[in-house]
Amino acid sequence: MTQEIPSLAKVYGDFFAMGAAVNRRTIDTHSELLKTHFNSVTAENEMKFESLHRTRGDYDFASADAIVDFAVANGMKVRGHTLVWHNQTPKWVFEDADGHLVPGPEVEQIQKEHMETVMGRYKDVVYAWDVVNEAISDSDDEFLRNSPWLRALGEGFIGNAFLRAHAIAPDAKLFYNDYNETHPAKRDKIYRLVKQLRSEGVPVHGIGMQGHWGLGGPSVSEIREAVELYSSLGVELQVTELDISVFEFEDRRTDLKSPTTEMMDRLAERYEEIFALFREYKSSITGVTFWGIADDSTWKDGFPVRGRKDWPLVFDVNHEPKAAFHRVVNF
Ligand code: GLA
Repeated sequence: MTQEIPSLAKVYGDFFAMGAAVNRRTIDTHSELLKTHFNSVTAENEMKFESLHRTRGDYDFASADAIVDFAVANGMKVRGHTLVWHNQTPKWVFEDADGHLVPGPEVEQIQKEHMETVMGRYKDVVYAWDVVNEAISDSDDEFLRNSPWLRALGEGFIGNAFLRAHAIAPDAKLFYNDYNETHPAKRDKIYRLVKQLRSEGVPVHGIGMQGHWGLGGPSVSEIREAVELYSSLGVELQVTELDISVFEFEDRRTDLKSPTTEMMDRLAERYEEIFALFREYKSSITGVTFWGIADDSTWKDGFPVRGRKDWPLVFDVNHEPKAAFHRVVNF
């Protein structure tokens, strides 16, 4: 199938780790592509709080273990995603069965038990954790997102989560991960947060730029400015969830059965320019992870327009390399 094409991970061996988000199904259905082209994986959902820890103290590691076993068997790195996030975290963490708020110290204790159990289990395999995900607000008049973690634990929750993570897994690289990471206002807030934490001695080792981007933006210069600013903090950067939607923001069409030639041409150009930039910053960027493997399995099919097929990756629905793939490996 894809035998004669170069391996993404090999071509990028001197630059950064090449990752893909996987799930329990795609480690089977996409195993050929994974083994050939990727040397790092992230669990798409399987290491999130609600997947591992549905009710207090009752953990289900089956799917996460299957992913970790696949990675180990194939000599791949594993990024852990994610420990402290406002989404996909069960309600019981913050609210009891009668709808009363769980007191802060108790929420803290739950977080501690969760992190110790999960990070402890994968200590020897997971080399980097997205400790806190999406804590910065998108709104101009707010710094931190008004999340249940913030409401329960106050502003110190971010720094405390990193300190706790470091105490549990002292060798793990600890990341702050977010989206809209190239938008100037949000970018500056992420910068401010990480700068402040590091000045207090909090072990934040890296910034994860999710990279859910589109044909129309962010521009290469916006990405460059974000990379420059973040790397000025002396932290590692990783692109943690890269995909490029082929739809312009205003384009809400749901009837396309396959991408237009223009979409695929523009996607190829975008991937080419974005990877050229990543290569330029190889001393700061230590990993680039696609949010998926091939176009037959992507969350973009449901977001932001329900039921709309998208084609955001570099392998097509039949697992064949797209023009975008060739532009990424030929430089
Ligand atoms: C965010 C999260 C990811 C994933 C994507 C959408 O970016 O960090 O875990 O849920 O949204 O799939």
